[in-house]
Amino acid sequence: MATEITWLGHNTWFVESGSHRILIDPFLDDSPTAPRKAGAIETDSILVSHGHYDHLSDAVNIAARTGAQVIGNYEICQWLKKQGVAEEKTLAMNLGGSVHLPFGRLTMTLAHHSSSLPDGTYGGTACGFLIQFVSGGRIYFACDTALFLEMKLIGMNKIDMAMLPIGDLFTMGPDESVEAIKFLNPKKVVPCHYNTWPPIVQDAEAWAAKVQRHSAADPILLEPGEHVTV
Ligand code: NI
Ligand code: MN
Repeated sequence: MATEITWLGHNTWFVESGSHRILIDPFLDDSPTAPRKAGAIETDSILVSHGHYDHLSDAVNIAARTGAQVIGNYEICQWLKKQGVAEEKTLAMNLGGSVHLPFGRLTMTLAHHSSSLPDGTYGGTACGFLIQFVSGGRIYFACDTALFLEMKLIGMNKIDMAMLPIGDLFTMGPDESVEAIKFLNPKKVVPCHYNTWPPIVQDAEAWAAKVQRHSAADPILLEPGEHVTV
């Protein structure tokens, strides 16, 4: 029993936990770094952190083909229904809420970021995800966010692994992410939302060295397509 998490570039993650498959923030066919196309994904659940294109561009097509349940905030679920996703295939949540699902307990956590949908409509509030997997591992996906002090509250849960953006410009950058790690105190940390395009290129090796100098967390660098086991 283990949880295996594959980085598909940017903030797209494919989680296999026990017999469950969860896809987070699907951005594949238009991503310059994704190692797989949307048509190659089989999944049971899709989590969407906010309305920006680089987090949900393939949500509707993968949901339509696989019949996966799509989980996001209320506004994103309303938009999904307008795109043809069946109401019973959506699960609307909001910040601070938790739900028990077959794969584990999912909490929608605070994020500081905007969230408009591709058609310009209001996408609700951006979020992160904290998941306690039934098959083992408590994982925090910060998704797109600035550094914020309430990460200390999220860190009161014993986090096995945190996925943090380090790209800067649209999210926190490498230095802020090291402060985030001090608040969150995860055992392991994996960077994301960098090197997708030139404006968010970062030196991940330098970031990892800084994490080791300033925190107790073990930094893990992945290439798109590589996975970690929790
Ligand atoms: Ni965004
Ligand atoms: Mn983004």
